[in-house]
Amino acid sequence: MRNSPLHRATFEASPNIALVKYWGIRDVARGLPYNSSISFTVDQLRTRTTVAFEPTLSKDRLVLNGKETRGSALEDVTRFLDRVRALATIDDRAFVRSANNFPTASGLASSASGFAALAGAASRAAGLPLSPRRLSQLARLGSGSAARSIFGGFVEWRAGTRPDGRDCYARPLFPARPWPDFRDVVVLIADAPTKEVRSAEAMQSTVRTSPYFADRQRELPERTARIRRAIGRRDAAALFPLIIEECDSFRRVCETTNPSLDYLTAGSRAVMDEVLRMNQEARRSVAAYTHDAGAHLHIFTLEADAARVRRRLARIPGVRRTHLLRAGPAARALS
Ligand code: PMV
Repeated sequence: MRNSPLHRATFEASPNIALVKYWGIRDVARGLPYNSSISFTVDQLRTRTTVAFEPTLSKDRLVLNGKETRGSALEDVTRFLDRVRALATIDDRAFVRSANNFPTASGLASSASGFAALAGAASRAAGLPLSPRRLSQLARLGSGSAARSIFGGFVEWRAGTRPDGRDCYARPLFPARPWPDFRDVVVLIADAPTKEVRSAEAMQSTVRTSPYFADRQRELPERTARIRRAIGRRDAAALFPLIIEECDSFRRVCETTNPSLDYLTAGSRAVMDEVLRMNQEARRSVAAYTHDAGAHLHIFTLEADAARVRRRLARIPGVRRTHLLRAGPAARALS
């Protein structure tokens, strides 16, 4: 399988935020989700990762944001590299250097961009020529949402139905029809608590214990199809209420998990209330909120409303700062 190895490669990837959430794994070993998800890859934020396979190393090494890192972060990287080594039939340990241009574990989805960049750099350094689709299948083994960060703009990660996972991959949604005035206002919440339970474990607790999980799975195909259609038509008036509905469904499945999962602060809830108020006042869908397993909010809106939305949200107590993001690029090799 190995094809003219480079031994060393650098890849860059940007985080994504889900409009339809992935929350539940049907096959842990293969990283297969229960449902398809849809996301938006953002610009400005990125992870840059270099992987060098070195025959002299006895263990993998990880330098994260300039600091030698051990413990669970290194274990996750080694487990992921073991998959790449098995595919490429190599044994060499690797030196991994990875840096985010945004705070790691700030709730800005560093695992999605992190594992997308690692998948790209490691497979390239190992001499594995993988298509973007195959790369998305590799990246999901590190973190499910990483599958979607292989592509730019709107992305769909198809759950597939095959037990072997061959029909489970990410792909760009409507790549020929970009939506240039679509915006993501990231609202960073002050004193956001750090995650106590990793998402991959928390979601399996939801699968086991939430009485709402099965109903949510029944609702999702229809909601996902409507969200996909609204994106295709660039129809914000149809899309924004659906994004809010999906976020509320995600929050409900978390809250009904035992023990209950609550990622929000009073500040997060105030931001969501303010979005609903803005829509009511304007008598149209100015914006939609969503969040993942953290306290920060992503507020989708269009360029024409973005400055006003930011001003309104920046005034709320508990909001630390806001960032205005656009559609970001696909993951790419730098060397
Ligand atoms: O990819 P993970 O294991 O970090 O889980 C992602 C979970 C959510 O962000 C809440 C939803 C999603 O689809 O990104």
